[in-house]
Amino acid sequence: MTQTSLHVRRASPDDAADFARLMGDPDVFGNLMQLPLPSAEDWKQRLSSPPGPDHLHVVAMQGGQLVGSAGLHPHERLRRRHSAMLGISVAVAAQGQGVGTELMRTLCDYADNWAQILRIELTVFTDNARAIALYQRFGFRVEGTHRAYALRRGRFDDVFAMARLHPHPPTVAWDTPGP
Ligand SMILES: CC(C)(COP(=O)(O)OP(=O)(O)OC[C@H]1O[C@@H](n2cnc3c(N)ncnc32)[C@H](O)[C@@H]1OP(=O)(O)O)[C@@H](O)C(=O)NCCC(=O)NCCS
Repeated sequence: MTQTSLHVRRASPDDAADFARLMGDPDVFGNLMQLPLPSAEDWKQRLSSPPGPDHLHVVAMQGGQLVGSAGLHPHERLRRRHSAMLGISVAVAAQGQGVGTELMRTLCDYADNWAQILRIELTVFTDNARAIALYQRFGFRVEGTHRAYALRRGRFDDVFAMARLHPHPPTVAWDTPGP
């Protein structure tokens, strides 16, 4: 697969079958909070009724194939509206080729420059070295460990809570002279 054909666009209900395929791989859904045996029908429903207009859900397309997806989900409560939860997944065959990097770049640009998001949060299993390395490269830091956080392959496994604060929060030029 060539890096040149990679592009990112919004997810659509028409992507349902591709989502079911992506999320049906144990090496993908096992590292997320998804369940085995996803169906295209369930994904169609989810993609047809997004949680809100401010939520960003994108897919990475390469050579006409859906090879990854990522989402940024702002908190609803007034005092937490500067924060959003991040999720990301790349098909196993496309991992290690920069797809995750491109998806992270898209989400961070949206958060930093358009969506008034100052804090991006996520959880990641403590043994998911590839994901942790990717997040650290984008400025995420480990804030703590949730022990026995989620059942994965018959074990209650730990996750890190990670977050990234906006590297250059937008400011207002109060002292700009008026017309
Ligand atoms: C985590 C994930 C999104 C990364 O996507 P990707 O397309 O493979 O990411 P990229 O190729 O852009 O970058 C991966 C980086 O991790 C590095 N990496 C790969 N394997 C690694 C390992 N075992 N340990 C540390 N770093 C590793 C790569 O070298 C690369 O960094 P570099 O560009 O500086 O060389 C993808 O592996 C995935 O979807 N995994 C399954 C689902 C998942 O774990 N999602 C995250 C849940 S929190």
